[in-house]
Amino acid sequence: MSKELRSLKEYLEDARERKYALGGFCLWTYAYGRTIADVAQKLGLPMLYIIGDAEVKFFGGEKNAVAAARTIAENVDVPVILHADHFREFENIKRAIEAGFKSVMIDASAYEFNENVERTAKVVEYAHKAGVSVEGELGRIAGCEQKLSVDEAEAMQTDPDEAKRFAEQTGVDILALSIGTVHGEYRFPPKINIPRLKKISEKVSIPLVMHGGSGTPEEKVAEAVNYGITKLNLATDLVKTVGKATADVQTKEGFGYSVVNLYAKAYEDLASYAEHKMRLLAHNIL
Ligand code: 13P
Repeated sequence: MSKELRSLKEYLEDARERKYALGGFCLWTYAYGRTIADVAQKLGLPMLYIIGDAEVKFFGGEKNAVAAARTIAENVDVPVILHADHFREFENIKRAIEAGFKSVMIDASAYEFNENVERTAKVVEYAHKAGVSVEGELGRIAGCEQKLSVDEAEAMQTDPDEAKRFAEQTGVDILALSIGTVHGEYRFPPKINIPRLKKISEKVSIPLVMHGGSGTPEEKVAEAVNYGITKLNLATDLVKTVGKATADVQTKEGFGYSVVNLYAKAYEDLASYAEHKMRLLAHNIL
């Protein structure tokens, strides 16, 4: 059905309205992507892939990643979205759009407010002319390697008034927030700032995004969906799921160095994980 890749805005505005979210599943290979798309199809949900610079390189460039996502789209009856994740340079975003991405993220969150606005607005102007939706980020999302005190971590979180100004001044379609999640494994008990999210969602009406989905307490994720979160990015858990299954299977009798044996259980586990997360995120509509 849906051969062309779709833009994220088309689906996330509806998601915000009806209080559900899509999982943003990091795309690595065709076979892996197809496994998760089959789950999306089973549940009747759009398939959303996110892909960062490193994974694009792993694919051998933007065009190959787009070709893989398009081939998956030809094989399922649900819309397929390929979203550039944490792209930091305008030139890389331009290349992704030229290759066929219909959805991009510009992450200029490392810069101070005005420069973040300027860099994000430049991408919005370019992308919108091409019918491409844009996610911006305000506030810093900590990495698991950072050792921060509670106060330092909270100081990096998104300010509700700034979020309102950022959305207005940049014209972004979607906004990524920092509300206590981290990229990678949590090295301390996660403390998700739902009161802050509530304040932001009262001031900002565009779809909101939570990064660092792996290991984030599911009851907090379910609650966040009620306050405007429409996308939850997932990467680390996927690597762990595949890594564990492929390691375990090699210790089993009869493994025989068959590639089918190597990945069969991994893909089964990925499908179960994806279904579990998709159901959690869309619990208000499924
Ligand atoms: P995790 O690796 O914590 O799942 O975060 C993924 C992410 O937010 C990518 O943008």
